[in-house]
Amino acid sequence: MSIKDVKKVKQDLKKLRNKINSLNYNYYVLDTPKVSDHEYDILFKKLLAIEEIFPELVTRESPSQRVGSLPLSKFESVSHKQQMLSLNNVFHLSDLNLYMERIEKKLSVSCDEIKFSAEPKLDGLAINLLYKNGVLDLAATRGDGLTGENVTKNIKTIKSIPLKLLGSSFPESIEIRGEVFISKKGFDDINSSGSLKKFANPRNAAAGSLRQLDSKVVANRPLDAFFYAVGYCSDNLSLNYHTDLIKKLSRWGFKTCDLNQQVIGQNGCEAFYNKIYLLRDDLPYEIDGIVYKVDDLNNQNILGSISRAPRWAIAHKFPAEEKLTTIDSVRFQVGRTGVLTPVASLKPIEVGGVIVSNATLHNMDEIIKKDIHVGDTVKVRRAGDVIPEIVKVVKKDDSREKIILPRKCPECNSLVKKVKGMSFAKCTGGMICPAQKKGAILHFVSKKAMDIQGIGEKLIVRLVDEGVINNISDLYKLNKNILENFVMSTATREDSGKKYEITLGEKSIRNILKSIDDRMEVKLSSFIYSLGIGEVGEVTARILSEKYQSIKNLEKASYSDIMELKDIGPVAALNICNFFKKKSNLDIISNILKSGLLLKSTDSNISNLLNKQIYVITGKLKNISRKKLEDLIIANGGIVSNSVTKKTFSLIAGLDPGSKLDKAKKLDINIMKYEELLEILKL
Ligand code: IVH
Repeated sequence: MSIKDVKKVKQDLKKLRNKINSLNYNYYVLDTPKVSDHEYDILFKKLLAIEEIFPELVTRESPSQRVGSLPLSKFESVSHKQQMLSLNNVFHLSDLNLYMERIEKKLSVSCDEIKFSAEPKLDGLAINLLYKNGVLDLAATRGDGLTGENVTKNIKTIKSIPLKLLGSSFPESIEIRGEVFISKKGFDDINSSGSLKKFANPRNAAAGSLRQLDSKVVANRPLDAFFYAVGYCSDNLSLNYHTDLIKKLSRWGFKTCDLNQQVIGQNGCEAFYNKIYLLRDDLPYEIDGIVYKVDDLNNQNILGSISRAPRWAIAHKFPAEEKLTTIDSVRFQVGRTGVLTPVASLKPIEVGGVIVSNATLHNMDEIIKKDIHVGDTVKVRRAGDVIPEIVKVVKKDDSREKIILPRKCPECNSLVKKVKGMSFAKCTGGMICPAQKKGAILHFVSKKAMDIQGIGEKLIVRLVDEGVINNISDLYKLNKNILENFVMSTATREDSGKKYEITLGEKSIRNILKSIDDRMEVKLSSFIYSLGIGEVGEVTARILSEKYQSIKNLEKASYSDIMELKDIGPVAALNICNFFKKKSNLDIISNILKSGLLLKSTDSNISNLLNKQIYVITGKLKNISRKKLEDLIIANGGIVSNSVTKKTFSLIAGLDPGSKLDKAKKLDINIMKYEELLEILKL
């Protein structure tokens, strides 16, 4: 084909893509279809046919990219250019008053005069889209606010999200933020389709869909998105108001919530809240409150942020839904550390779109305080994703039964003891208790502990129930043969009429063994944490690792030795001593080490070089991962923080540093490259 012909095909393709993109925009964003579905299909098929002949001409913004592609094995972790903040909440007007007073003081204006952008708080998942020269380059979930998961392929399947911004002028690089959700109707359609696992509510359906590894599956889920903010931006957008920014997003082709409104003063905010509260049930999507944002961007700057939330915005949440039901029975659940938690079985009731049939009663003191008995009619509350709880007893049944703490553990029959001075009771069975055994193994493999992937709760429960593993050291005895035999012996059997749900294919077995193998060299602090000793969290584990440098030294430490360490309290110290006094625990550790696990301790010579100085890292780092740099700072006695404050010792700035750099400059904080830090550490 001649160069001229190729040029012509390119031109045709461009026209066709623009046409389809514009039809998409009309259909999915403006909700005003311009052609029939049939006409659209013809154009789309034509595009696919041309791209099949000229695969080298396929572009990232082509609508053909919306159908999904090969499944991923996992989502890659990616850094946001600018931290994704969260919002502080208020539930009551008295708290909204306090918020208004605070900003009034900071801005030195009466809040009656402050303009706000009032917006429904959409109940979905936050998403961060990076557009480079107007083309969608990367889409990431919020994650911890600094790094999220790369879900670009999945996001591209959402037809209302532009692959290319409309118009002709856009910044070289900009992060656009919004909420991905599934409408109430979309949720009903998914749940009634029969072929899918049922989701509890539209939010879970959206989260489950967005985290699908197969983007072809995602393409068939009714995901949608509204946009409400900008993160990093390479250019100055020259805007004065947040509401102007929303208009700009809309002009670039994003869907924005049409209920958003500029209001004035606290009165305006409250009137908007009341209006939307009444509309809530009739809206096609779920919302759980209202967000008020100071509209003037200058004032937003003056107000700034504290820790992870801006001072210039607040979420005014709708009250948690409450319903009445009765308590059928109470059982005691045994946790990882042996603590018994009373859980009420309720007559199932729908609360806030979810069927609730269990509620935590927390502990015996709580039961006595609220005077809860089996048979009572109670008020149940569910807010967001938290476990439902009982607010109060509203009707005492004549034949109400007292709830009694069992003398013996329901899992292993060992004695149950009330912990002195505490409101909870514990099973004394230790590792002979299957519930504690399973909990300990689950904790051991968890992300912050040994981070062994591919072994989830269900599998651990089955492996323990089948006697394949009994403690954490048995994980290191697993091999292909043992796992294949386990699969064979369980796959064909029926358990109380119900087939085992565990099916481990060859690939899963390989993955499990590989993840154990990949983690044969870990930090001593991670290992100490993974032992699940009561009150020994990540920080305590790190202190112990730095002090003792080996597990053998720690095993020998006395109570008074440990008590000498700063920041470790008497309860943790006692737990540590008791743990290492037990021969069974020492045997387990010894068996693990015999399997070849290597524990890396920090070098005490360099460990205090940074002497509690606070470091903040920003921007892209070239030859080192953010995690590695953070670990280095921590290993050398420094502290890593997310936000620049007066207390920050130094800002380590990489490429495209964003707002943290401005803030550090403003506060006159030392700014350095990570190479300079490595030099200080003589690395
Ligand atoms: S603004 C710096 N606006 O609520 C402020 N958030 O609880 C960043 N959300 O992570 C968020 N609707 O996922 C903003 N109109 C709205 C929102 C909204 C829902 C979510 C968002 C955020 C969470 C915080």
